[in-house]
Amino acid sequence: MDDILATIYDQNAQAINGEGDVFARIETQATDLLLDLFNLPKAFTGGFVTGTTMANFSALAVARQWCGTQIEQDIAADGLVKLSLPVISVTPHSSVLKSLAMLGLGRNSLINIPTLSNQREAIDVAKLKLFIENNFKYHPFILVLNAGTANTADFDAIAEVMELKLIYNCWMHIDAAFGAFAVCSSEYQY
Ligand SMILES: Cc1ncc(COP(=O)(O)O)c(C=O)c1O
Repeated sequence: MDDILATIYDQNAQAINGEGDVFARIETQATDLLLDLFNLPKAFTGGFVTGTTMANFSALAVARQWCGTQIEQDIAADGLVKLSLPVISVTPHSSVLKSLAMLGLGRNSLINIPTLSNQREAIDVAKLKLFIENNFKYHPFILVLNAGTANTADFDAIAEVMELKLIYNCWMHIDAAFGAFAVCSSEYQY
């Protein structure tokens, strides 16, 4: 359906400024419907891409730009020369690694924190905190979390990690490829 509408309206999404464009209005209205569905704050702004691989790619491009700004580098303008931007995660989807490769951050910039146990794919928040404290207390970094891992649908303890975000200077990216839909179920909403 998205493809049919995109073809009919034939608008160049690169050129929109959000004023008077049909494309921009459709996107804003569809975002509003999703905010209702997922019970998200109205202040949230979003955009549509072709799937979660592109969502991870686009959001990590924003994270990269943010990280550069923290150390006074405009990466979009000047590139990544001599910069090292750490990315911390556990059990990231392969599309995250692909995105790091395509964004010039490099797959090897990913630092894996241990999971809670052998039976879990969620991040061990205590170990995460210790690692940040020892390595990136004063350095900006990107944190990639999961709301539903591909293999076992495990969730990182996002509320707990949010508390770390209040202490450390990081960009938090949540890959919710399908996990966010749990909020639509009265049984699994929690
Ligand atoms: C956690 C997670 N992230 C990203 C993706 C990639 O999504 P897509 O196939 O829409 O590009 C998937 C796909 O299963 C996924 O489970």
